[in-house]
Order: sequence, then structure tokens, then C-alpha cells
Amino acid sequence: MVIIAPSILSSDRGRLAEEIKAMEEAGADWIHIDVIDGNFAPNLTFGPWVIEVARKATSLPLDAHLMVVDPLTYAPIFAKAGAHYVSFHLEAATHPHKIITSIAEAGAKPGVALNPGTSLAALDEVADLVDLIILMGVNPGFSGQPFIPSTMGKAQRLSNWLNRGGLSPHLEVDGGVTDLNAGALTAAGVTVLVSGSHLFGSPDYAQAIEKIRRAAGAA
Ligand code: DX5
Ligand code: ZN
Repeated sequence: MVIIAPSILSSDRGRLAEEIKAMEEAGADWIHIDVIDGNFAPNLTFGPWVIEVARKATSLPLDAHLMVVDPLTYAPIFAKAGAHYVSFHLEAATHPHKIITSIAEAGAKPGVALNPGTSLAALDEVADLVDLIILMGVNPGFSGQPFIPSTMGKAQRLSNWLNRGGLSPHLEVDGGVTDLNAGALTAAGVTVLVSGSHLFGSPDYAQAIEKIRRAAGAA
């Protein structure tokens, strides 16, 4: 069954705890937390305090997605703060193995993320060491951008490659996900769908989650 992870980047951040609780009650499976440092991508979002706020608001797994130029420093900080999954961008990592180890040692599950323009070849030496792989469906920075169509074929190729290698990390697509592409994404092997503007922009969170779930199940 597909995992649906609302991205709180699109939430009403003045009411962050209530928004997280509302998504949990509406049937979300994970909460996706976008950490952007203003350098890796052009936005400034959350510090590690957000993990404490989210942990108090929900018992759902917290999926921290670090878009920062210094993951070696920040990944273990978010893991220690209590995120369940901590993912960093391979484009920002000089020593991915060290970062993966530091996340695991701090008690979280390690993940890696790839920008739309980054080749799957970047995963060759790390795919067997992580619990989550994030393929970006948009260039990182902001919610509400249109889905980049080539992400679909990229997800399918990655899923085939993981299957051939007997690997089964979660395969997450982040950016531009709606009920319109959820079915094709899950058919391509995607197991986690992140959705920001589509879910938080909907008047009825439960109905919007159910619609994505139905579209994904129909794949
Ligand atoms: C982009 C973030 C995404 C974003 C998704 O930098 O990583 O998680 O919030 O938002 P939507 O679903 O609106 O594209
Ligand atoms: Zn994200």
C-alpha cells in the first residue's frame, strides 16, 4: 500500500501543530519536512526545532528531507532531534558514506535524494546502504511547481534496477504529485508519494488523501 506524506512546506505554518494533527486525522501515513538552507536551494525553511514540534503533534513517522549544502553537519542533528527518516542530497555530499553512517548512529533511517537533473548513476555506491531514495519531481525550493514529466521514466528505471539488485528501499517521489499522476507513479514502482500544495490547498484533507490513495491503488 502506498505511503502518503504531506509536505508541511505548504501548511499554514502559524498553525503548524494543528496542521500536522489534521493531516494525521485525515489519514496521512508520514509527515514530510523540507529543510532548506537558502544555499542548496533558494528558500529558507525549518531548523531542528520543527522536529520537536512535529513529534509533540503526531506519532506518525517524520520524513526529514534536507536540502542543505552541509549534510555532514546537519543530518545527524535532525536525526538526534527525532526524525525517523533523514535524507540528504547526493549533489551536496562529498562523503555520502560518512553521512549515512552518522544518520544511522544517531538513530534514524538514512535516505538520499536526487535532483531532476541528476543521473541515477549517482546511486550506484549507496543504494544498498539506505532505507529511502527520493526522486525530485521538481527542482527543490518551493511547493506548487509543475511535475517534471521525465521523473516518471526515471522512477520506473530506478525501480527496475533496484528489483534486479534485490534491493528494496522506499522509493519516494517529491514535488508536483497529485491524484492525476499518483496512479502512474505507483505503477512505476513508487512507494511513497509526497504532496504539498495539492493536499494542503484542498478544502478537505481526508477527501484529498483518499483520492490520491484510490488513484494509487487503481494503478
Ligand atoms: C520542494 C520540496 C517538496 C515540496 C512539494 O523543495 O522538497 O517537498 O514541498 O510540494 P508540492 O507537492 O506542492 O510540489
Ligand atoms: Zn521534500
